[in-house]
Amino acid sequence: MSGRRVLVLHGVNLDQLGRRPPEHYPAITLAELEVAIARFARELDLTPTFDQFNHEGDYCEALHEGAETADALLLNPGAWTHYSYAIRDALEIAELPAVEVHLSAVDEREDWRGHSVIADICVGRVSGKGVDGYREGLEILARELEQR
Ligand code: DQA
Repeated sequence: MSGRRVLVLHGVNLDQLGRRPPEHYPAITLAELEVAIARFARELDLTPTFDQFNHEGDYCEALHEGAETADALLLNPGAWTHYSYAIRDALEIAELPAVEVHLSAVDEREDWRGHSVIADICVGRVSGKGVDGYREGLEILARELEQR
């Protein structure tokens, strides 16, 4: 089925891309990242929508609403990935296939970044591939949606 809807949700501090440590993050803005993701999505015949939040409850509400408006989720919850059980619960409620993506190589940084509270309820996890990691995440979702 074509045009499947993917909700791309950026978490806390991702609006600050371009000001984050260059050894871990690409020197682009969030708007530029979204242009790249939209291009990847188009190539895969997916329809993306985007949002970014710095407040955890808002991110949870976006997941609640996404359950009604999207077919799949591409999530970079930022630091919340590592400890937010609220976001984990909201993701569980959404019951949509989700991929966790990180720009930086979280497993090669501080120990606490290697832990994800959502990984086991996601269909995939991509990290350390910068902008291209989002393409890989979308490819995983496209395959997953194809099988459903
Ligand atoms: C991040 C990695 C997280 O550990 C960090 O807190 C972020 C961004 C990434 O994209 O590499 O804010 O999710």
